[in-house]
Amino acid sequence: MIMTQESTSQYSAAVEIKNLFFAYNDGPLVLKDISLMVQPGEKLGIIGPSGAGKSTLLLHLNGILQGRGNVRIGGVRIEKDNLKAVRRLVGLVFQNPDDQLFNPTVEEDVAFGPLNAGLEPEEVSRRVSEVLTRLRLAGFEKKVSHHLSYGERKRVALATVLAMDPKVVAFDEPFANLDPAMVGQLIDTIIELKSTVVVVSQSILPVCACCDRLAVLNEGEIIAVGDARKIAADRDLLKSCGLDYSFLCRLCRELSLSENG
Ligand SMILES: Nc1ncnc2c1ncn2[C@@H]1O[C@H](COP(=O)(O)OP(=O)(O)OP(=O)(O)O)[C@@H](O)[C@H]1O
Ligand SMILES: [Mg+2]
Repeated sequence: MIMTQESTSQYSAAVEIKNLFFAYNDGPLVLKDISLMVQPGEKLGIIGPSGAGKSTLLLHLNGILQGRGNVRIGGVRIEKDNLKAVRRLVGLVFQNPDDQLFNPTVEEDVAFGPLNAGLEPEEVSRRVSEVLTRLRLAGFEKKVSHHLSYGERKRVALATVLAMDPKVVAFDEPFANLDPAMVGQLIDTIIELKSTVVVVSQSILPVCACCDRLAVLNEGEIIAVGDARKIAADRDLLKSCGLDYSFLCRLCRELSLSENG
């Protein structure tokens, strides 16, 4: 098995989580002594089975949830009085795009954050146009966000985050319910991001395709961190927490044999 927790303190990290514990209300601990670092420009995937605490952990990255312990963004500890500044630095892309879209049109949804941040209208238009083009949404400006398909709404939700040009982009299950071509396009989009990226997901293969390192979260604990391909190839580790995907590999091998035979 690959090494577990990271504990070194390094304040230049884009994201540093140190000894984080969290429970909802009076319930059991959902996050148990989590320590993780993400360097500037690095892409970290956090994989884990359902209920492991992935979404809960992600919500700590911009202070929506605040547990016991430290979360630092660019060296600055997240506290109640700097949440506004932190949320400029960290953009969360929620699993459900409908949690992110609330304006009548795509253009208004994407412009909302930059306008609220006080950017000049010309700069807002430039950003909206650039980000919509980048996400293959040019021509969608006047469409009603809630009339779009799920995959299109996911892209608009990502556009609302990228238009803010955050230093850290954190995705919750970005590949869920997308068709295979869209998964491929999203992998390319994530690879091309210049910002620091955190992706939480149960979909190991797409996460492995776009992340440098993977951390495995199981029952609220980080049980391994390491090179993405090494973690994704560690069958015993993945089996131990219900993430084994070897049936998919078997199926792909069978399909490619029948294709060639
Ligand atoms: N608002 C809440 N109140 C109480 N318990 C919660 C709340 N949200 C999540 N939990 C519990 O915390 C644990 C972790 O949930 P979380 O949503 O973080 O898991 P997850 O790894 O994201 O799972 P999934 O892969 O299914 O999205 C679960 O046991 C869940 O029931
Ligand atoms: Mg989740």
